[in-house]
Amino acid sequence: MKLADNKATMSFSNGSASVDLPVYSGSIGPDVIDIRKLYAQTGMFTYDPGFLSTAACQSAITYIDGDKGELLYRGYPIEQLATNCDFMETCHLLLYGNLPDAAGKAAFTKNVTQHTMVNEQMQFFLRGFRRDAHPMAIMTGLVGALSAFYHDSTDINNAEHREIAAIRLIAKMPTLVAMAYKYSIGQPFMYPKNELSYAGNFLHMMFATPCEPYVVNPVIERALDRIFVLHADHEQNASTSTVRLCGSSGTNPFAAIAAGVACLWGPAHGGANEACLTMLEEIQAMGGVSKVGEFMNQVKDKNSGVKLMGFGHRVYKNYDPRAKLMQETCNEVLEALGLENDPLFKLAKALEKIALEDDYFVSRKLYPNVDFYSGIVQRAIGIPVKLFTGIFALARTVGWIAQLNEMIGDPEYKIGRPRQLFTGAERRNVVEIGKR
Ligand code: SDX
Repeated sequence: MKLADNKATMSFSNGSASVDLPVYSGSIGPDVIDIRKLYAQTGMFTYDPGFLSTAACQSAITYIDGDKGELLYRGYPIEQLATNCDFMETCHLLLYGNLPDAAGKAAFTKNVTQHTMVNEQMQFFLRGFRRDAHPMAIMTGLVGALSAFYHDSTDINNAEHREIAAIRLIAKMPTLVAMAYKYSIGQPFMYPKNELSYAGNFLHMMFATPCEPYVVNPVIERALDRIFVLHADHEQNASTSTVRLCGSSGTNPFAAIAAGVACLWGPAHGGANEACLTMLEEIQAMGGVSKVGEFMNQVKDKNSGVKLMGFGHRVYKNYDPRAKLMQETCNEVLEALGLENDPLFKLAKALEKIALEDDYFVSRKLYPNVDFYSGIVQRAIGIPVKLFTGIFALARTVGWIAQLNEMIGDPEYKIGRPRQLFTGAERRNVVEIGKR
């Protein structure tokens, strides 16, 4: 970042001395006012719950222009990456800052492939869960448990440890998600097959059984790989900020990523894809498109607590570019599977059309986000609704790691420790229980 030819002067109407605050510029996007010395100079904090106007770090990984609906991974538009690259290239880009050449891609892919197995002891963790446990409960446990097996790569301040931990996490997340699925349906776990692609291997571990060979459908394989690309990173979202804050204490990478998994689970965040598909199924059960108007009235009634899941975004005040690409992927997969008349896809497109013409949504700049169509694609592929957020976590792991490693490599980083505006009881003395 560089000092802008501008500065902020904060003055106070109560006559307190004004303070000058430096303004910094990045390469693109809003400038920042550096308030690090504000408390020392004024005795006051800034107040920004939800961090609507707060840059918590500087980063060179992902840039979002919410007004334009633009998403860049290391400067490359998501539309170009989703069309011209695959998830392994995208992982290399996010981790190291550049797209690999053919040899680099082959070496990176081989490295990931050779770490897809998990320690045989990992399977025994699943036995402690009920078969109907939510996969995100299982994933939160399993990812944290990985740190118990890799004492050789848990020093987050050791660059080599960070590198091998990154490869291990990217490689093992599909294996763990597939294990959570197999456990829920009472089928045996399937080992990874190294000759398959990253997405193909995941499909194999999900849907193959020891009883017969499983043939990966290339259309589904490509669609799943694109879903991974679209979910790989997204600037300082809630789960990435969780990973950064958790990692800032110096804890190991596995524990920090487990914290990200836990945060992503929430329906306001990565859990929205599961919530969106459940919402579509409920509207379909009520009567489908004919009931959309009634549903929208509930959404617009503040007291209902009903939201149009898969719509709205803290940053995008325009169409989420990932939603457009996800809708295209939806079309491709449904056509390939002969499901082009899928009622839920028709319902989703009807909902989107109605919302984008309704002033409630237009005035609030609410558009479809990445979660609006992703559930329909995953359901068509045969992935159960409860596993959708697990797939999101699988794909976002590379972004979490890239952001964590960037933070640890930033000489400015400190343990994150926000302050507060205290509104509780002032000092008072304890009264003995007999006199209370
Ligand atoms: C992800 O941050 C990221 O980058 C996240 C993510 C990533 O890749 O990491 O993009 C992934 O989490 C996508 C978002 C998935 N969540 C959902 O689809 C859940 C439904 N969406 C909402 O919960 C909401 O839009 C949020 C949480 C996504 C954003 O909330 P904000 O920024 O805090 O906005 P807000 O709640 O202040 O909403 C502004 C207004 C409010 O109405 P008013 O008080 O002004 O009258 O819009 C309304 C909200 O009630 N609103 C909605 C709505 N989203 C916002 N009303 C109905 N349906 C919705 N979906």
